[in-house]
Amino acid sequence: MSNTNQVYPVIWQEDRVVLIDQTRLPAEYTVVEISRYEDMAEAIVTMIVRGAPAIGVAAAYGVYLGAREIQTEDRSEFLNQLEKIAEILRSTRPTAVNLFWAISRMLNTARQTLGPVDYLKQVLLEMAQTIQAEDLQTCKDIGDRGLEVLPRTPEKLRILTHCNAGALATAGYGTALGVVRSAWSAGRLERVYADETRPRLQGAKLTAWECVHEGIPVTLITDNMAAHCMNQGLIDAVVVGADRIAANGDAANKIGTYSLAIVAKAHKIPFFVAAPLSTIDFQLTDGSLIPIEERDPSEVYQVGETRLTPVGVEFYNPAFDVTPAEYITAIVTEYGAVAPSELQQFQTKQAV
Ligand code: MRU
Repeated sequence: MSNTNQVYPVIWQEDRVVLIDQTRLPAEYTVVEISRYEDMAEAIVTMIVRGAPAIGVAAAYGVYLGAREIQTEDRSEFLNQLEKIAEILRSTRPTAVNLFWAISRMLNTARQTLGPVDYLKQVLLEMAQTIQAEDLQTCKDIGDRGLEVLPRTPEKLRILTHCNAGALATAGYGTALGVVRSAWSAGRLERVYADETRPRLQGAKLTAWECVHEGIPVTLITDNMAAHCMNQGLIDAVVVGADRIAANGDAANKIGTYSLAIVAKAHKIPFFVAAPLSTIDFQLTDGSLIPIEERDPSEVYQVGETRLTPVGVEFYNPAFDVTPAEYITAIVTEYGAVAPSELQQFQTKQAV
């Protein structure tokens, strides 16, 4: 945290990466220092760092941390070893495409840069820093573009969000919470409704923490209260993030997003997905092709150290679901908000 109140989940400091440990918030604000790529991979798996764009930034630094350990002057041997490091970082989490996008941007940079291996290493560090800086600006642009398409009435909006698509999930501003932040700065926000987001409670722990930290009014609800809140006229718009968006606009996001989209449509409440172009996977024609991460069942059967269920029950713990494009009012990118069917126009703008 800097004294400007801004939250940066990933910071490059001298010769190492400093991560906010998101598994300990809100009870404790602690940081973890990462100097080796294996530790970065572990931090992504254990969700010390999480959220699609933040995972991308962390993985980019992971590639550099691995690169600087490679002990060869031979360029093609360096690239071979770098590919193996990339493979380990890619195997951490399957759904957020920003991870794969950032790693391939790093590898492309290494392949396309001429010069000695030491110079390649320096350029890789600069590319990781560029990916991070770009994401910060991109999220601010998403916030502003989102503000333009929010409903015009009422003047002060009640926005429901799911999971945490905030500063903690990005380089430091947020996608869905970026729109919320921009609305708050413009005087267009009454309050945020945050879904708690079972099983890992990113809404209750992280979104609530970010809002309180910044003085944005926030009301926490359990996931199963959303339809009731909409029916009571408490919600003017839903804004969520995404982990991977297929070319047709189907969007994978934290489990529970799909049901939220259905109830929003039933109540004629606009449903926005806010995400950078780095979250769009133009290779996938539709959402059925998006790999869905399954996590440990203990996330479902216990809270903290307390087991909730009797022994003998079976569990299913998909971490994400896919909201079909037909339920999405608009996808808000840094280049503007478009109907899901119009996403293709951005393909040539995506950095590779
Ligand atoms: O499992 P997580 O906490 O990494 O999931 C995060 C989400 O689903 C976010 O909504 C998504 O990554 C967008 S973050 C800007």
